[in-house]
Amino acid sequence: MKPTLLHARWLVAALGAISIAAAAAGDPTRARLQYLQHCAGCHLADGSGEPAKGIPSMRGPLGLFLTVPGGREFIVQVPGVMNSPLSDSDTANLMNWLLPAVTADTLPAGTAPYTTAEIARLRGTRPVNVMAVRAELMHRLQQSAAPVRR
Ligand code: HEC
Repeated sequence: MKPTLLHARWLVAALGAISIAAAAAGDPTRARLQYLQHCAGCHLADGSGEPAKGIPSMRGPLGLFLTVPGGREFIVQVPGVMNSPLSDSDTANLMNWLLPAVTADTLPAGTAPYTTAEIARLRGTRPVNVMAVRAELMHRLQQSAAPVRR
């Protein structure tokens, strides 16, 4: 874990993505704690995951999902987010903190923060096959101008 790097990235993101960073200012301490409690067991404290074990790194590529249609929905419809015991409001707060923290370099500037109502709607419509949705998004990314980095 590299807390100073993570923090520095968050600060850089705060300059580049004002909208979501402003929302992240909501309750970043709560978001970070809940990330450590509910997500870090798989994704590790810094979001780097364990790609060799099927847990993708969120450090970098995550923001690219927000550049293609369906990506914004997908990243909160993965099982780890859908099945967490967090409330919709805590989930919105967590995602709005997480994105700038781990994807400072790819998060599109001006990305709108998630709202509680949006999370509630997305959690109510589970995709049938998460990995198929992810594969389709990766395909869209490869066809778009955005470089896909892993
Ligand atoms: C039990 C392990 C586990 C937990 C806990 C978990 N995840 Fe995940 N997560 C995964 C796996 C595995 C994937 C890969 C896609 C899939 O199979 O669902 C994933 C994918 C993701 C993705 C999409 C990344 C990509 O590149 O496809 C996001 C975003 C994400 N998780 C966020 C979270 C958040 C936020 C939490 C906590 C609320 C969380 N996850 C909890 C295992 C977990």
